[in-house]
Amino acid sequence: MARKKLIVGNWKMNGHHLEAIQRVQKLHYRLGPADLDRVEVVVAPPFTSLRSVQTVIEADHMRIGLGAQDVHWEDQGAYTGEVSPVMLAKLGVAHVICGHSERRQLLGESDQMVNLKLQAVLRHRLAPILCVGETLEEREAESTAERVTSQVRLGLQGVHEKDLPSVSVAYEPIWAIGTGRHAAPDDAGAVAGKVRAVLREGWEEAADQVRILYGGSVDAGNIAGFMAKREIDGALVGGASLDPDGFAAVIRYWV
Ligand code: PGA
Repeated sequence: MARKKLIVGNWKMNGHHLEAIQRVQKLHYRLGPADLDRVEVVVAPPFTSLRSVQTVIEADHMRIGLGAQDVHWEDQGAYTGEVSPVMLAKLGVAHVICGHSERRQLLGESDQMVNLKLQAVLRHRLAPILCVGETLEEREAESTAERVTSQVRLGLQGVHEKDLPSVSVAYEPIWAIGTGRHAAPDDAGAVAGKVRAVLREGWEEAADQVRILYGGSVDAGNIAGFMAKREIDGALVGGASLDPDGFAAVIRYWV
């Protein structure tokens, strides 16, 4: 079954809403219909820019999807500082990153919290991007497969087979994020294959529809190597998604 390629720009905590508007407009000008037929493109700005980016995407009929970098699992309530899936859905957000390693490592997000978020996202008919990946120590101890397997199983606990096709899994080795040191495409492809095998164990019918992304220092110079791997269907791009020229070159990885 053909899975459409998915390339997501995670802008992290960069830029205010006026900069976000410029960034998405510049990206839009650099992409043609043929590019967007081939790749589904999503940008995930900070929460404060979602409304502005939504407005320009809709006004200019851009074929660029809107993503959020995080979400709370409750629909509403006394959770100071949090943003709910109801609010995101109302803003036209279609994709939500769940369990990014920066949140797991710096903000104490556990597998259980990630699972609650992912289930909340699905409940509101949005598409979660589940992030998994090992630390350098885990890699050196050769426990990458074990770590990733456990994160996938715990992150997707309780997910119904019919909902699985809207899930994407981003394999992002922590040591490769923001370091300029990307994984070898062969290694990333092997881990993506492992993720697919874990999905098949739990969701035999739907596993082949899940898109598996690679993330970690992806740029225009290395993306093609990852996209050539059978089990890699796209990329989650941080630093290189901030520059519209660079990100457009990542999206047009075959050129
Ligand atoms: P990077 O970030 O491309 O800057 O390494 C990737 C990510 O954190 O999703």
